[in-house]
Amino acid sequence: MFESISQAPPDAILGLTESFNADPSPSKISLAVGVYKDAMGQTPVLQCVKEAERRLIVSEKTKTYLGIEGLPDYRNHVRELLFGNSIEKERVAVVQTPGGTGGVRVAADFIAGQFPAATVWVSSPTWENHINIFMAAGLQTHTYRYLDAAKTGLDFNSMMDDLANKSKPGDVVLLHACCHNPTGVDPTAEQWETIAKLLAEKRLLPLIDFAYQGFGVGIDEDAFGLRCVLKYCNELLVASSFSKNFGLYSERVGAAVMVAGDSKSATAGLSQLKRVVRSNYSNPPRHGAAVVATVLEDNELRAMWHNELATMRDRIAEMRRALVNALRDGGAKRDFGFLLGQSGMFSYTGLSPMQVDRLRSESHVYIVGSGRINVAGITPSNLPSLTNALLGVL
Ligand code: LMR
Repeated sequence: MFESISQAPPDAILGLTESFNADPSPSKISLAVGVYKDAMGQTPVLQCVKEAERRLIVSEKTKTYLGIEGLPDYRNHVRELLFGNSIEKERVAVVQTPGGTGGVRVAADFIAGQFPAATVWVSSPTWENHINIFMAAGLQTHTYRYLDAAKTGLDFNSMMDDLANKSKPGDVVLLHACCHNPTGVDPTAEQWETIAKLLAEKRLLPLIDFAYQGFGVGIDEDAFGLRCVLKYCNELLVASSFSKNFGLYSERVGAAVMVAGDSKSATAGLSQLKRVVRSNYSNPPRHGAAVVATVLEDNELRAMWHNELATMRDRIAEMRRALVNALRDGGAKRDFGFLLGQSGMFSYTGLSPMQVDRLRSESHVYIVGSGRINVAGITPSNLPSLTNALLGVL
């Protein structure tokens, strides 16, 4: 039976890490996978995480299974970080998931089980893995227009036009809460209001992917879009992640969250989310969630986390500015100032697939085929060679 199996293509993002690791060039640069790097090019373990782990080693009494829905304290913190005080907790059902991807997949399986006729609308472009996940769950996807013709800003009118005229009531609309992946282009506060009103009027179900809370402007500021949608829509789904803002990538710490109109529906919703989890991975891993809960429960560790998160955010913004200046000083014909208006780890450079290939074959610079770069992978020491490589293909 296995002889007939054909080779699957490498993953559009993680496949690049495999190629990068296999590249022997000492000057190679990876701006592919969305992972934060410090000025030394390392992905550090946050100090608040180290301290929480030290405390857990002493205090942890068991490795027995968590409940299907995950660690209770962690789930409460997820709800508070997402919504602040803007909702009655009885209306919110949270299940801890392995990473934000796990959160999207649990939400997708839940949608497929409860609303199999729903189409999921995703932005064009969206994170490479979104469509894979919805397809794997058996859901149909369609895209709504997102970027303008120059591929540097939001084409808001087209986005609204697609959602207003092509979707049907009961469809699901996937939105990125902040730091849109892969473009870095987010709606303004005013645009969020218009989106939220349309979702409510048209009875569309928002599914908000929130993988970068704190990487845009700040923890609460980045939740603006989500909380704005909540003002108008009394039902929504969220997938959230602590991979980036806690640097807990390999611990797989995320959540699938449902907001219902009342506590009875939230309780029933939680029971269905638990069914999805049980038949998939049974129950979630403890360690990463225990780290997050330990940090967020302790004022000193929480303050340390806020500082470390601000340091990551500021370094990315600094590298954005440095890249724009270096390209301008290097004589690039195109003005890359638009990168400064984008937010979070990613930016769309507008490079063609051929230019992306040349970057890799001629300069050992790895970026995603769509032209997405991970700005967080730029360092003061790789900036000059990166700039030269970019100028070379432009
Ligand atoms: C990315 O977009 O690079 C990250 O979210 C990592 C991933 O799983 O693709």
